[in-house]
Amino acid sequence: MDLLNHVGADIPQVCYHPQLGPIQTCDTCMVEVNGELVRACGTKVADGMKVSTKSARAAAAQCEAFDRILGNHLLYCTVCDNNNGNCTVHNTTKLLGIEHQKTPYRTKPYKIDDTNPFYRYDPDQCILCGRCVEACQNVEVNETLSIRWEDPHPRVLWDGGSTIGESSCVSCGHCVTVCPCNALMEKSMVGEAGFFTALPKPALHGMIDLVKGIEPEIGYGKILQLSEVEAEMRKARIRHTKTVCTYCGVGCSFDIWTKDRHILKVVPAQGAANGISTCVKGKFAWDFVNSADRLTKPLIREEGKFREATWDEALDLVARKFSEIKAATGPDSLAFISSSKCTNEESYLMQKLARAVIGTNNMDNCSRYCQAPATVGLFRTVGYGGDSGSISDIEQASLVVIVGSNTAESHPVIATRVKQSHKLRGQKLIVSDLRENEMAERADIFLHPKPGTDLVWLSAVSRYLLDNGLAKTAFLDQWVNGLDEYKKSLAPYTMEFAAATTGIPVETLERVAHVIAEAESMCVLWAMGVTQHSMGSDTSTAISNLLLVSGNYMRPGTGAYPLRGHNNVQGASDHGAMPNYFPGYQSVEDLEIRARFEKAWNVTLPPKKGLDNHEMIDAIHDGKLKAMYLFGEEISLVDSNSNHVDAALAKLDFFVVQEIFFSESCRFADVILPACPSLEKEGTFTSTERRIQRLYQVFEPLEGSRPDWVIIQDVANRLGAGWNYGHPSEIMREIAALTPMFAGVTYERLEGYKTLQWPVTPDGADQPLLYTKEFYFPDGKARLVPLLWSEPTEQLDAEFDLHLNNGRLLEHFHEGNMTYRSEGIREKTPDTFVEVSPALAGERGIESGTWVQLTSRHGKVRVRALVTKRVSGHELYMPMNSTESPVNRLTSSHTDKVTHTPAYKEAAVNMRVLPEANGGSPLPRINHRFGHPTPQNGVEVERKWKRPDYHMPGNGNGNGHHPPTGK
Ligand code: SF4
Ligand code: SF4
Ligand code: SF4
Ligand code: FES
Repeated sequence: MDLLNHVGADIPQVCYHPQLGPIQTCDTCMVEVNGELVRACGTKVADGMKVSTKSARAAAAQCEAFDRILGNHLLYCTVCDNNNGNCTVHNTTKLLGIEHQKTPYRTKPYKIDDTNPFYRYDPDQCILCGRCVEACQNVEVNETLSIRWEDPHPRVLWDGGSTIGESSCVSCGHCVTVCPCNALMEKSMVGEAGFFTALPKPALHGMIDLVKGIEPEIGYGKILQLSEVEAEMRKARIRHTKTVCTYCGVGCSFDIWTKDRHILKVVPAQGAANGISTCVKGKFAWDFVNSADRLTKPLIREEGKFREATWDEALDLVARKFSEIKAATGPDSLAFISSSKCTNEESYLMQKLARAVIGTNNMDNCSRYCQAPATVGLFRTVGYGGDSGSISDIEQASLVVIVGSNTAESHPVIATRVKQSHKLRGQKLIVSDLRENEMAERADIFLHPKPGTDLVWLSAVSRYLLDNGLAKTAFLDQWVNGLDEYKKSLAPYTMEFAAATTGIPVETLERVAHVIAEAESMCVLWAMGVTQHSMGSDTSTAISNLLLVSGNYMRPGTGAYPLRGHNNVQGASDHGAMPNYFPGYQSVEDLEIRARFEKAWNVTLPPKKGLDNHEMIDAIHDGKLKAMYLFGEEISLVDSNSNHVDAALAKLDFFVVQEIFFSESCRFADVILPACPSLEKEGTFTSTERRIQRLYQVFEPLEGSRPDWVIIQDVANRLGAGWNYGHPSEIMREIAALTPMFAGVTYERLEGYKTLQWPVTPDGADQPLLYTKEFYFPDGKARLVPLLWSEPTEQLDAEFDLHLNNGRLLEHFHEGNMTYRSEGIREKTPDTFVEVSPALAGERGIESGTWVQLTSRHGKVRVRALVTKRVSGHELYMPMNSTESPVNRLTSSHTDKVTHTPAYKEAAVNMRVLPEANGGSPLPRINHRFGHPTPQNGVEVERKWKRPDYHMPGNGNGNGHHPPTGK
């Protein structure tokens, strides 16, 4: 099939999708090969093959197969929301020149299922191609969908026969994306896409009857012409715009179809990171953009209350106060926090404002809250602070090790690649986590270490490899420095010590070591379960040490993958939103580098590193920091020990918050500037795999709001900067000129779906896989770094007897400011909760829905319990998404020693059962966690072929199918 498509043979192929591979359910691609009828999609090319696509037999077989399909699908294209020029059923009818069908259309004895908030299934339009099943089983690997081919009237089944709403469906949308017709459709399309599709049901059915009534006389050809005119008319009002997902760091990109400000659908297809994949957030959770809560007027606090203001008033006030505070207490009494949700260009401008206009390096972004330790671990050992390869490397590794990452929920599309390789290609999977999350359930080896002890087992495995001749010595000799010192430092890390410290048995650890030693290639993925500890930087370093000892760098399918959380958390740091670096990790304390920036910006720059986020909060409490400018960041909810943070924000003399909603942080602001979400601006994001991608403007800014880069420029110019950027591409040109790492980055090279993975040389060459020739150190060699483990900071005691873990949920992004504004997401996951193990629940008399109060040394929250075996013993887990009961009321101000990343994952609490009545399960029955997946080997077409009423088209009772004349 690929070859035929390559040479432009017009061959029907209803079930074939290049990203699904041959599933062979439709039989429309029949061709003759050496005189025998075969399915083109299921046939491998071989030398000397004689292929005929248009022989009479092949053509008759194609028509026979497609005719059967029409028996399952009513062609009412003119009044169908899928009539957009890309409907496979429509286009195949035309391609084959079908005028009249022989197999009569038969309805199926099932109703439309619209129990999912985001999409609906119409069995009567379903052609049973099975693309959706294949996508769900073998691409998303949620294993919800199947077709029971043996049924008298097969249809697509969710969990073997549940409603969609009560099934295990995670609403990722893969199935809807690949459906070749209107059987599965986004609800946002229904009645919206066509000119006649919003008609009331009786009128719509009348029109369908009319179309069907005239078909015997005029044939499909004429009817299709009519629908094509209607499809053409739609082009005038439906726009397709490429964008990049605004949620997590995977970097999914897709086209957004819009009609005015209505989002019709999200269409992933060509994204370098994701192809046809998305998760529920990228596919469906965009309601927030048009939310009535959007800020559209600047607000100024006066006498304790906010009043609406004009842009000029607000900007003048910001400039005046910044100038006054700078004059009174110096530039270092101001601080700036950039957004990891906003673009690279915006982070660049923010740090330029701080450094070049105000004169301070007090500049940071939320990578401080999660990613900084991973970056340090890689800086120390291999040189670059980014993923060593691409998602495709993770996919092809023979072993994936996941440490402290709930990948299936936090980086869902990356998880699909691991699940695929594990299910279909024999990839091995080791997971170390406190919770038995989905990846842990799927793992070949699941490790549950005691909290904060990953460094110990990682180092013990490294030692075991070295002690037992299992290390890759040739690699170490050629490419790695510091082996002797490192070996000495491993003395304490015996298997016995590791077992005693982590609670993982020696035999399991030895098994892990052997699996690693035997793996041809290994990737290690980690996230906040590692970095948000007091040993976050060192544990990240231990991961990289292990990769070096086992020789797992410098080859495809190997390397270190700290999974970046926010869509542009990598880019915010890359572009200098850090206290110690200009863009491209160029030190602000390096004389030569600073001189280059001073020349380019025509200013004198501050010579010493500034305050990071954590230090800023302390500096406010100490009275040293007076003013702050925060944009696109919910510091009040997401920084740890939020009572302490809020107290600091309340002390600021002047606080500017630039936001799209009135966030919790806005409560402390003096001026609030209404900004735009990603769909309303242009720019670039950098994903976890260092992939720089362009986003294009989908909507005009909502009236009254402005893109962040415009606002930052307005502030800078009122302070006398004289900037004149007319478009983000001009900002990128300046970045590239000043930053060797981005030297070859241009908007032209990022046109459409083109991407670049940094570093990018001036000629535009990028590096999907780092370290192919050497490591990023002057001598080209990596470094093993000795490490000393210490106990986690917050210990349990008699008063605070439970360990509290926290993290993201699939459906909500982080604190939930955007996702709570999606009705469908709220329906599926309305609130936060605390996960309690069955054992602890039994001990304390807790059921799902019991109200409890959690109290730590820093604060308390009231929350409902969810009893689940995902957690065990005396370990609790709270998702981060909540405004009312934010987990960070409980976390401490302890940090990673190197980066000051809060030790969010080291919290000790007690739990008191509250007297009020059970509030009902915090997760409704329609949440996917209550479903029952039905794993199987894809669509399993062989079962269809075994049906007594099945015969291969052209090879049996062909029922008089002949190629139409003129084909
Ligand atoms: S999980 Fe749900 S939305 Fe995703 S492919 Fe499966 S059935 Fe479709
Ligand atoms: S619902 Fe599934 S089986 Fe039915 S037409 Fe769509 S992709 Fe094919
Ligand atoms: S949230 Fe992440 S995985 Fe989901 S669509 Fe967006 S980028 Fe992809
Ligand atoms: S495209 Fe080959 S069987 Fe469907």
